[in-house]
Amino acid sequence: MYPTDRPRRLRTDGIRPLVSESSLSATDLVAPVFVDATTDERVPIESMPGHERVPLDEAVARVEEVRDTGVEAVILFGIPETKDSTGSRAYADDGVVQRAIRRISESTDAYVIGDVCLCEYTDHGHCGVTEEGAESDPTLTVRNDETLALLAETAVSQADAGADMVAPSSMTDGQVATIREALDDAGHEDVALMSYAAKYESAFYGPFRDAADGAPAFGDRRHYQMDPANRREALREARLDAEEGADVLMVKPGLPYLDVVSDLRREFDRPIAAYNVSGEYAMLHAAAEKGWLDLEAVAHESLVALKRAGADLIVTYFAEDLADRL
Ligand code: PBG
Repeated sequence: MYPTDRPRRLRTDGIRPLVSESSLSATDLVAPVFVDATTDERVPIESMPGHERVPLDEAVARVEEVRDTGVEAVILFGIPETKDSTGSRAYADDGVVQRAIRRISESTDAYVIGDVCLCEYTDHGHCGVTEEGAESDPTLTVRNDETLALLAETAVSQADAGADMVAPSSMTDGQVATIREALDDAGHEDVALMSYAAKYESAFYGPFRDAADGAPAFGDRRHYQMDPANRREALREARLDAEEGADVLMVKPGLPYLDVVSDLRREFDRPIAAYNVSGEYAMLHAAAEKGWLDLEAVAHESLVALKRAGADLIVTYFAEDLADRL
């Protein structure tokens, strides 16, 4: 005789919330903010509807808008006034992100996270110093060890400016240990570190590269970001970062990598973050624009899925829109 059991008993309106296994709240979310030194007006980002690059003078106002929705944390990305081969505006004390952090931490209560990478600041768009001849030879790549010192300098300059947390995203081997040591040496032992531990070489970053103007001018990032085919390797990356002193371990992108989020949740006792990236945002918007999907519903479902897989916090372009209704 079927059914032998009736799971539907737990799906009435009265009990659904009582037995819900995952929840989403505004305080789980981190909103990305783009500060642009090349403009004095807000510039909409075409491939990311609702998002814009803001001039330095608007940085505080932008963060206040985020805070007004109930989202308490922001991650800052900078578009510098000039770029060069070593990304020197990434670690300048008067760099666009450093200046923005200074203002935001002085005049808001936001939890401020600085993304630590060179790709928005190098003229070649790679995440570190490139090898000689890399423009014409796709087998050549970023020099790992030379990049480390520049990342450390970037992180310390952001901490000096008042960042609460730094988030290295360049997939340079040894970056977590190098940055942690540099922060501690500079007296920033209280500044937290969230590593982009399992960051894949993903085509879902497309719209971000428009937003932050950080597409590689030649080659791609497959020699330093992870191969999308690899799952076990994410555990190795996360283990290294945990041992090197990461406080939070991030998986990026989010939705296509739920297995990795779940693995890290099970394997580590640190908070796990997921980055619901620009492409995940853009494709839902594009489909909604065509009338094919209900934007609010699919956005909410996406973030609940990340929570269900094991994410504690989520970096997402949907932060403000969803927080408003949570
Ligand atoms: C910097 C960085 C990138 C993203 C976050 N930090 C770009 C990249 O690695 O190409 C992507 C974020 C997104 O797509 O939303 N390295």
